[in-house]
Amino acid sequence: MATLGAAVGLGNLWKFPYMIGQNGGGAFLILFILFTLILGLPLMLSEFIIGGVGKGNSYSAIKKLAPQSSWRFIGFVGNINLLLIMSFYSIIAGWSLIYLGHATLNHFDALAAESSHTLFVQMMSSPILMLIGHTLFCVLTSWIIYRGVQKGLERASKIMMPALFLLLLLIIIVNLFQGGFAQAATFLFTPDFSKITGKVFLDALGQACFSLAAGAGALCIYASYLKDNSGLTRQSLIIVTANIIIAILAGLAIFPIVFRHGLSPAAGTSLIFETLPLALGALPFGNILGIALFVLFLFAALTSSISLIESPVAFLEKELSLSRRRSTVMVTSIPWVLGVIYILLWNHPLGVFDKVIHLATNILLPLTGASLVFFVGWKIGQTKIANFLQLRSRLLIKLLTYGLKVIVPLTLILISIMNQF
Ligand code: PHE
Repeated sequence: MATLGAAVGLGNLWKFPYMIGQNGGGAFLILFILFTLILGLPLMLSEFIIGGVGKGNSYSAIKKLAPQSSWRFIGFVGNINLLLIMSFYSIIAGWSLIYLGHATLNHFDALAAESSHTLFVQMMSSPILMLIGHTLFCVLTSWIIYRGVQKGLERASKIMMPALFLLLLLIIIVNLFQGGFAQAATFLFTPDFSKITGKVFLDALGQACFSLAAGAGALCIYASYLKDNSGLTRQSLIIVTANIIIAILAGLAIFPIVFRHGLSPAAGTSLIFETLPLALGALPFGNILGIALFVLFLFAALTSSISLIESPVAFLEKELSLSRRRSTVMVTSIPWVLGVIYILLWNHPLGVFDKVIHLATNILLPLTGASLVFFVGWKIGQTKIANFLQLRSRLLIKLLTYGLKVIVPLTLILISIMNQF
């Protein structure tokens, strides 16, 4: 449940629609699914193996598994990258908080496309508002981590996840009747392979890792808390499938609205915030549905943000023997400060915010991910891997270790490096 919570989040609801919108539709979807299955899944399993066998966060587990080597450095970089991800994640979650406020104040009622755009622009031009959202979300995440109430959150997700699923389904059904659905389905499901460029490749890879919460070692710590790892392989398959389904549902919820109102699918980070209020505003009880939707968004974001913070906190506790409280404050203050800097530089021509998203998801995530897989392939014996994953078929074991040793890391590195030139 915790890993499913880490995987499903703003990556599916906010990032996937904007990525597929910017990368031309169907062809991106196919690449995303392909990369999730052949690269993301082994990556996820590798993190489970490191954390489960080495019993710790990525750094401490690798240190234990390969004491004399400098491999642990990957764990360190991974933890830094988790903080980098949190720094922009928290800003987007902050936007969801602000939109929750709008829904509560009934601001979506009978909204026209233009006013929806204005609503978003107003938020963008108010650093104070963004600062409040960002700060609240950081505080909320650290409070959960510090109080150790993740378990309660995970239990709640048994209700919240299906609720999110149903609400997305409701928006999709409404879309079916209000127009734009056929166009959206064509956009999402008819691949135009001429649209595939190096950028589309890289974006799809980054999205596959990001959406699964895999690549930076966040999942190691989750596996280390497991007493019994039976069924892990099967559960990973369920997580991967659920993650893809939620992303597609988010696409089917957003794109009919885009086409119905003649908006641009390539609007970028603002896409869901400019479209969802339009659909909600046109519905009876739209504000109540809006409140429910943004509460569920925040919930999904929180179960992901705790996975971004938990591993670096565990690192400080273990390696520097700091208290849970101190570690939590130190760890959350880094992404908070970074986020404040992005907000202050919001209209700077360098486009710092978008650059950080690109660096953290498309470059660092695949590179540290490749190193983690490589480490598992070469440094943890075939027998240990087979035992941990409880695999019996010799062929499968051979195939998996070969994949982990050569194919997966090489592909990850090639795609992430290729696009830089
Ligand atoms: N997978 C999360 C989401 O989709 C984000 C995340 C990325 C979490 C990397 C942990 C590590 O929202």
